[in-house]
Amino acid sequence: MDNIPVITIDGPSGSGKGTLSQQLAKHLHWHFLDSGSLYRILALAAGQHLISFSDEQALANLAKTLAVEFLTQELGDTPRVLLDTQDVTHAIRTESCGNRASSIAVFQKVRQALLERQRAFKKPPGLVTDGRDMGTIIFPDAVLKIYLDASVEERAKRRHKQLLEKDIHTSFDVVKAQLIKRDQRDKTRSIAPLNPASDAIIMDTTGMTIETVFNKIIALTKKIPGV
Ligand code: C5P
Repeated sequence: MDNIPVITIDGPSGSGKGTLSQQLAKHLHWHFLDSGSLYRILALAAGQHLISFSDEQALANLAKTLAVEFLTQELGDTPRVLLDTQDVTHAIRTESCGNRASSIAVFQKVRQALLERQRAFKKPPGLVTDGRDMGTIIFPDAVLKIYLDASVEERAKRRHKQLLEKDIHTSFDVVKAQLIKRDQRDKTRSIAPLNPASDAIIMDTTGMTIETVFNKIIALTKKIPGV
């Protein structure tokens, strides 16, 4: 056992976990892990290596050998993502990459291959991490586990806005349909499905601004001894 604190923020797509976990990492001056980016990078790399999205073993082998680098200037910053020295920061953010990530995330061998990579992000002074199984599987001893949710309509609106801000143009209806499909797959897969840890604090953020949710999370962190 070490004493490095971890805060996990899990939830479905568009729940705000990405923005909030990063803001929290920056606020606390802790390290930050966007675990979904690893699944996205693997999906992108599999496409480049012409590996079939149904070949579990080949995907797991690739996951073990991926040459990924997350470059940041300061703790909590949005990292630039390098895959074999190629800058893929933008390329991994498309909806199609997210959907491919979700289809390869169902495989046990893939999840196992990415497990230690994720745990290696835990370094002093602490780690804030976001994903689907952070509180349940990867960091079960986290000092604070939060599960964010919101209505489908609201999550689709947020996701659509985020994509437009990144100059990725897709219609709202397509974004909503893909989000529903991805949630369904993430929640019903047999390995590490998306669901709140039994000791997670569940927050429904429908109708709340990011600022309101952030303040609620900060209030929760103040209850953690030493934070
Ligand atoms: O969070 P993000 O949308 O980037 O994640 C992409 C996909 O990666 C998710 O839909 C999910 O299937 C998978 N994922 C996962 N476990 C995580 C993070 C992401 O299965 N901890």
